Amino acid sequence: MLVKSAEFVCSNTEVSKLPESNLPEYAFIGRSNVGKSSLINAMTNKKGLAKTSQKPGKTQLINHFIINDNWYLVDLPGYGFAQTSKKNRAEWSKFIRHYLTRRENLQCVFVLIDSRHEPQKIDLDFCCWLGEKGLPFMLAFTKADKQSGVKSDQNVAKFKKALLSWFEEVPPHFVTSAEKKTGTEEILLAIHDINQN
Ligand code: GTP
Ligand code: MG
Repeated sequence: MLVKSAEFVCSNTEVSKLPESNLPEYAFIGRSNVGKSSLINAMTNKKGLAKTSQKPGKTQLINHFIINDNWYLVDLPGYGFAQTSKKNRAEWSKFIRHYLTRRENLQCVFVLIDSRHEPQKIDLDFCCWLGEKGLPFMLAFTKADKQSGVKSDQNVAKFKKALLSWFEEVPPHFVTSAEKKTGTEEILLAIHDINQN
């Protein structure tokens, strides 16, 4: 799918203040620093659309971007960032949980996972939580430029195998690099397919 336009709409913590839920919406979530904001910029070909940082904890709000004037991409704060105060973390998880469970136009959650690591409990737990809530999700493995394709594939296979302890089938996955812009077209195509249905 061609991204003709991508614009920032608003940042929020409250579901009641989000843009009208009349368009399909796709949210990016994952551990802090996994590359959520960078992947959004790579997909939209717009450096600086979503704010990125080398330091974890950059994205702290629910950020809406409108794509081609007819669907939303949403950049969320990361989970599992230890350096934020406990209260802050609890607040985040609460408003993120509210957002994910109450946003009726949310079509699919993209769970971003660092392709360099073996399966992490926090990511598996998060996928299980999505499963329990009946929220559709897909997996995007990030930073694939940082190691060999073989290594990425091994970690993807391990993660999917771990998920099979909880799920009968594992969702589709994408191997991505924001740096090299790989996997971005495939994610856009998956979104396009959902938008068509
Ligand atoms: P939070 O908002 O803090 O949760 O982080 P985030 O998940 O949005 O990560 P962000 O996009 O800010 O990227 C974190 C760091 O990883 C930045 O220094 C990025 O340049 C780097 N990064 C992100 N994606 C890639 C990638 O595909 N390849 C490489 N080499 N670096 C990446
Ligand atoms: Mg971010």
